[in-house]
Amino acid sequence: MARILVTSALPYINGVKHLGNLVGSMLPADVYARFKRAQGHQVLYICATDEHGTPAELAALAAGRDVATFCKEQHLIQKEIGEGFGLSWDYFGRSSSPQNHELTQHFCRKLDEAGLIEERIDQQVYSIDDGRFLPDRYIEGTCPKCGYDKARGDQCENCTSLLDPTDLIDPRSAVSGSTNLEVRDSKHLYLRQSQMVDELRAWINSKADWPNLVTSIANKWLDEGLQDRCITRDLSWGIPVDREGFEGKVFYVWFDAPIEYIAATKEWAEAITDDDVADMQIPGGDPLDGSYREVVGFGEERDWQSWWYGDAAKDVTYVQFMAKDNIPFHTVGFPVTQMGSREPWKVVDYIKGFNWLTYYGGKFSTSQKRGVFMDQALEILPADYWRYYLMANAPEGSDSSFTWDHFAGTINKDLADVLGNFVNRILRFTKSRFGEEVPAGGEWGDAEENLVAELDQRIASYTAYMEGMEYRKALSELRAIWASGNEYLTVAEPWAKFKENPDAAAVGVRTGINLIRLIAILSHPVIPTISENILSALKVPVSELAWPTVPVEDLLTILQPEHGFEVPKVLVQKIEDEHIAEWTERFGGTE
Ligand code: 2FM
Ligand code: ZN
Repeated sequence: MARILVTSALPYINGVKHLGNLVGSMLPADVYARFKRAQGHQVLYICATDEHGTPAELAALAAGRDVATFCKEQHLIQKEIGEGFGLSWDYFGRSSSPQNHELTQHFCRKLDEAGLIEERIDQQVYSIDDGRFLPDRYIEGTCPKCGYDKARGDQCENCTSLLDPTDLIDPRSAVSGSTNLEVRDSKHLYLRQSQMVDELRAWINSKADWPNLVTSIANKWLDEGLQDRCITRDLSWGIPVDREGFEGKVFYVWFDAPIEYIAATKEWAEAITDDDVADMQIPGGDPLDGSYREVVGFGEERDWQSWWYGDAAKDVTYVQFMAKDNIPFHTVGFPVTQMGSREPWKVVDYIKGFNWLTYYGGKFSTSQKRGVFMDQALEILPADYWRYYLMANAPEGSDSSFTWDHFAGTINKDLADVLGNFVNRILRFTKSRFGEEVPAGGEWGDAEENLVAELDQRIASYTAYMEGMEYRKALSELRAIWASGNEYLTVAEPWAKFKENPDAAAVGVRTGINLIRLIAILSHPVIPTISENILSALKVPVSELAWPTVPVEDLLTILQPEHGFEVPKVLVQKIEDEHIAEWTERFGGTE
């Protein structure tokens, strides 16, 4: 049994995430975590909301909330939606937690001791009317590169150029619109990344097995000459910089966010869960309020350091999931923080990066509300429909495009016709001819031997693709395994044989029902709810979800004669043309 630490990029707190965010980080991480758990490994899947930075403050402002309240509410909303999608986080933390405050300040101290922190005076835009500095997105203006007039101080959304607030033409405050601005001096901390280029390059070069997407982005940054990076901001919401002369300043969101991977593990170790609170019967108890912590001494058996620090963490394999825009921060920024501290922190072993999922070829956009958001997706269809579609079309080798027609076609064909139809067809037939039990009688013949041979090969390659996190290929094998069920039935023909030779029909359905069980187990990481519905119809406990390792012939004889079952209600509902029309209208769908 191995120990596997899984993290997915932390979703910003500024609003509910869209399907592009989901498929580029949390969903593939969840599928991997579930797969590894089924193999019997000890998995810790950690995620959290990314709560600092100007996006959080501006979203709170727009919502008319103070930022702390806004973050607390939005955290719970995102947690609930994530759970609705079946994301099996072991812990979903908050980057504004006390644990992250403590660790972020700790890292800064250690980096300073290692000579990697430098104080510099910067020129920053100050708004006289707002009485404050305007970092990053607090300032808007015209992009000097492309002329777009709503470019933000950190980046132009139109041409993607990275910008400094002082680059903008005709700048204005995003808070008040005021143009009464001036440039003032402000003292900041810089992380001297340039000192670590050789060390980082040697580390990246040692990762020959990483996806090309990841290493090429990392190398591009190193080749362009790594700039020292300002890790503080003139903001009030964030983790305070505990250093003389830095009163009223906080750390830059991209400095503290990855540290939250570690801090959230500490939150997990120290947390009281909803179940714990229920067990303690504290009426109305708020599990996020640390005041109950002393009551029970939680966390004693949860050792966060054994996942992250020193010799105890040496046997951990750490895998990160993220979209391509996050790759520089995880191949350069966070490793500089960890390695530069000169403490023995666990660094990532494998990064799975993704391209973009587009909406009809264009950007999904949180700020412009373009595309389908996670809450809306769950309003209209069950989570597994989305999980299956998104993983089968994961933007791995290149960007992939969501369209309603493609989505509906995939669900109707693969999930409803191939999987749902196979399960319902065989169980309905068995019930009508043999009753609600696996029937006895008959011997295996060629059809069964051929099925075993095909499954042997397909399960091995499906497992290898899941192992390698090659999701498109994995799901195409999974789909082929589902199809092998229908193909087997076409050959075994229990319906045609029943009258003349009920024993032969019994072999067909007995093998078919065992195949349903096997398919449910293999599909569980991707479509956990449908899989559990199937297992419950077969009266198979979820505890039997262990990933198949024994020879396939044994797997197809586990459910023996007299084992009871029920016919499940329709497993997958087809998507009708009028739904497609309604959703295209509601969400937009122009090429
Ligand atoms: O791009 C984003 O959505 C960021 N909130 C990801 C942060 S990942 C990590 F480092 F915290
Ligand atoms: Zn631009």
